[in-house]
Amino acid sequence: MPKVTYIEHDGREHAVEVKSGLSVMEGAIRNNVPGIDADCGGACACATCHIFVDPAWAGQLGERGAMEASMLDFAEGVQETSRLACQIKVAEAHDGLIVRLPEAQH
Ligand code: FES
Repeated sequence: MPKVTYIEHDGREHAVEVKSGLSVMEGAIRNNVPGIDADCGGACACATCHIFVDPAWAGQLGERGAMEASMLDFAEGVQETSRLACQIKVAEAHDGLIVRLPEAQH
């Protein structure tokens, strides 16, 4: 199973295994990783699953979708590598993925 590391804004790391096919958001929720509220349950309608993808991985997860991009307009502190975790499906090739959680979501 691919391992995904979630790093909280204060540096606390959570390295967990996430089944392929689940989203990065679902991987956090199922493993009790704090900082991803996912208020809308993954419908791309809340932006409380905002994450920063590690720069080394930013090019390997596809592009933001149109709906995702417009939701990110409402998120705080958006950066170049910002994504919505519910819109990234984990695949075997993502083993070692690192994402960071914004301070606003702790
Ligand atoms: Fe709501 Fe991702 S869980 S936008």
